[in-house]
Amino acid sequence: MVSRIFRFFGNIMQQSQLTDSFIGRDIVSIHDFSKTEIEHILDFAESMVPVAQGAQQATPLTNKILATLFFEPSTRTRLSFESAMTRLGGQVVGITEREGSSLMKGETLADTIRTVEKYSDVIVLRHPQEGAARLAAEFSNKPVINAGDGAGQHPTQTLLDLFTIQNEIGDIDGKNIVLMGDLKYGRTVHSLAYALAMFNAKLYFVAPDLLQMPVEMIDKVTELGVSPTRTNSLSGIINDADVLYVTRIQKERIPDETEYKKVVGSYIVNNDLLKDVKENLIIMHPLPRVTEIQPEVDETKHAVYFHQAFNGVPIRMALLSLVLGVKS
Ligand code: NCD
Repeated sequence: MVSRIFRFFGNIMQQSQLTDSFIGRDIVSIHDFSKTEIEHILDFAESMVPVAQGAQQATPLTNKILATLFFEPSTRTRLSFESAMTRLGGQVVGITEREGSSLMKGETLADTIRTVEKYSDVIVLRHPQEGAARLAAEFSNKPVINAGDGAGQHPTQTLLDLFTIQNEIGDIDGKNIVLMGDLKYGRTVHSLAYALAMFNAKLYFVAPDLLQMPVEMIDKVTELGVSPTRTNSLSGIINDADVLYVTRIQKERIPDETEYKKVVGSYIVNNDLLKDVKENLIIMHPLPRVTEIQPEVDETKHAVYFHQAFNGVPIRMALLSLVLGVKS
C-alpha cells in the first residue's frame, strides 16, 4: 500500500516535472520529442476538449499574446491556433501574407522574428522554406512553433493526427497504418511517419514512384526498428488497414507541371475502394483535399477528417499552455 501511494505521488511529481520541461520550449520538429513527452501532450489535450468545444470556460492565457506569421496559405492550422489562444483567454496578432509584411521590403526572417518577439509571448510560423522555423527559433527568445516549413516538418499536425488515431482506434502499437499520396513533398507525412514508428505502428507507404517517401525518412523510421512497406498500389493492403491517411499532391512544390499532371488523380478514394475494408477502418486527411477523397466517402463511418480538423484546437491549446507555463 505504502509503495502504491509512493508511486502515485512519484508519478504526479514526474508529470509536473514533465509539464515544467515544456516552458519556453520551441516546437520545431517531431524529432525533438520523446514518446513520453508526446504522450504527455496528448493527455493534456484530452483535458482541453470541453474548453475547445466551448462547453467549459478557462482563461489561463489572459494577457498572453500569440503572434501568427503565415507566409503560406492556411485555413485549419492558423484558425485552430487562433481559436485555441482565444478560447484560453489570450490575444492574437498576425500577418497572413508575405506581401503585407516588411519581408517584401527586403527584411530578413531573422529581423522579422527579432521584432515580432517584442510584441508577443509565443510565435507560430509557417514558411515555404525548409529549416525556416529552426532559424526563427534561434533568433527568438520566445517559443517558436513550426506550423509547416516547406516540405520539411509539421509537428503540430502530427500531434493532432496521433490524438485522432488514439481516440478513434486506441493503441497504435502493431496497427496497419497506410500513408498515401504525395509522400515526397508532403510535410505532414514526414513528421507523422516518424512519430508512428515511435509508437511501433506497421507502416505502408503508397505513392507513385515519383512521389515516394524520401530515403532519409525511410532511414529514420528504420532506425526506430520499423520496416515500412513501399508500394505504388493499394491493392492487397487496403483491406487490412486500420488507418488510411490520404494526402494532397503538393502541386506548389512540384517543380515541373508535367510531372504534376502525370500523378494527379492517380489515387482516388471512393466508396468502391472501400467495399471490403475493415469495419473500423478510419480515413484521415490533413486537408485541404482536392480530388483524392470523393465527397461520397464523407457520409461513410470511416471518414474522420473533419473531426481530425477539430482536434487541432485541443492539441494547440495544450501546446500553447505548455510552452507558456500554464498547468492543466
Ligand atoms: C497541410 C499542410 O499545410 O501541410 N495542411 C494542414 O496544415 N492541415 C496539408 C496540405 O497543404 O496539403
